[in-house]
Amino acid sequence: AETHYHDFVIQARPVKRLCRTHSTITVNGLFPGPILQVRDGDSLVIKAINNARYNITLHWHGIRQLRNPWADGPDRITQCPIQPGRSYTYRFTIQNQEGTLWWHAHSRWLRATVYGALIIRPKLGSPYPFPMPRSEIPILLGEWWDRNPLDVERISDFTGAAPNVSDAYTINGQPGDLYRCSKQETERFPVDAGATILLRIINSALNQELFFAVANHRMTVVAVDASYTKPFTTPFIMIAPGQTTDVLITADQTPGRYYMAAHAYNSANAPFDNTTTTAILEYKSAPCNAKNGKSSTPIFPQLPGFNDTNSAIAFTSSLRSPSKVKVPLQIDHNLFFTVGLGLINCTNPNSPRCQGPNGTRFTASINNVSFVQPRRNSLMQAYYQGQPGIFTTDFPPVPPIQFDYTGNVPRGLWQPVKATKVYKLKFGAKVQIVFQDTSIVTIENHPMHLHGYHFAVIGSGFGNFNPRTDPAKFNLIDPPFRNTIGNPPGGWVAIRFEADNPGMWLLHCHLDSHLNWGLAMAFLVENGVGKLQSVQPPPLDLPRC
Ligand code: C2O
Repeated sequence: AETHYHDFVIQARPVKRLCRTHSTITVNGLFPGPILQVRDGDSLVIKAINNARYNITLHWHGIRQLRNPWADGPDRITQCPIQPGRSYTYRFTIQNQEGTLWWHAHSRWLRATVYGALIIRPKLGSPYPFPMPRSEIPILLGEWWDRNPLDVERISDFTGAAPNVSDAYTINGQPGDLYRCSKQETERFPVDAGATILLRIINSALNQELFFAVANHRMTVVAVDASYTKPFTTPFIMIAPGQTTDVLITADQTPGRYYMAAHAYNSANAPFDNTTTTAILEYKSAPCNAKNGKSSTPIFPQLPGFNDTNSAIAFTSSLRSPSKVKVPLQIDHNLFFTVGLGLINCTNPNSPRCQGPNGTRFTASINNVSFVQPRRNSLMQAYYQGQPGIFTTDFPPVPPIQFDYTGNVPRGLWQPVKATKVYKLKFGAKVQIVFQDTSIVTIENHPMHLHGYHFAVIGSGFGNFNPRTDPAKFNLIDPPFRNTIGNPPGGWVAIRFEADNPGMWLLHCHLDSHLNWGLAMAFLVENGVGKLQSVQPPPLDLPRC
């Protein structure tokens, strides 16, 4: 195994998009940031040097960070932020993970421009569990703002203006030729006729689930969130923020030019625009002028409609592990988490913060607790040092009252409690979580992401979860493993995992507007006594608050 050393210099750099140049927070001057390419078993040593004006942290999304929460990165969960002019070195080892992950800033909305791919290939000499592709292409789906994303964040916090506040969607940082001033820079991927290529697709957008397709080419899905899947063929994929999907495509069509395109899957049916982005798959052997040739307009793929929930769910529920997997059968913690939005009454309804209906303020919660980021320390540091007063351990395992989650919700539940609560798990405990979307304010798809783990996705459905009949339908044989799962709008999804990684692990909605509104909580997996049960000591350069 190898150790890879990198300096990540976080700095503002001019970036030009849509005819205008903006001072943009980048890593090493790149947008998107550098691609990390490693093998299973390798170690990474990344010195993050903050030369920007903002506090920042970096997160390695999907890396399990076994016994090493100090390298995970979420702001004030496992570390205090790296202040301007300071640095922090993230050190971690990849342990039994292969596929596509990514890294991103995990402070405020800085991940808008601070993100990149993290590609993990099998150990030297081990093959992929599918035919070797001729080439591999990372596809990072993202968003672009004409304004400073941190200003947009403030607007979204108060007005609920997300998700349609970005000015373009992007593939590898480029809006594509349907946008003004973007034709020259549109991503083009030359392919040899007959070749099979691996697309490593990452949704790094801040606030939008996306459909993605390649015109005339079917895709064979082989992995999600760095876990292999039973291969299946599909004309499109649905991918939520935080998720990754690896697909094979074969260039077996008439040589020519084909659009790859993504657009929003917007279950809340909010107004949408600027959500289409394109890149071009270009056969090297395409004739120069004939129909379908090098200068012709590429063919556009068919994508499901913006509110096509059935297509979104059909895709997600087709995913399976390649063979029988180990899923916990006996459950120690049976958790039921309502996830949804809410509105808080304001004492001064004319305040700019209170732009919800009738002068209310937007909020979001799990089991009616809206997560508040601690100020004085990170949760993990406070726990490790035994510092009281930073968090409490009384996060409720079920909502305070039961109700018809998809119907008329009692008004009392529209106003969650704001607090910093964690839920304690003993090392080795077997956990089931059923996430239930509520219809407070609106029904919505919430991509729930758990740090430090991947989990088996054992079932999902529309409407209210029924604890008597639904568990009988759980897939405990070959469910897919993921680190981020979209909770169906107006429905539920169930996951299981074993708490085999001690530390403080954030669980949150990967739509950043909802994260800001408090759709988050943390698990404290207790430090045991043995070598495999206890957290490593913190690095000496760990930032202090
Ligand atoms: Cu991709 Cu908590 O993050």
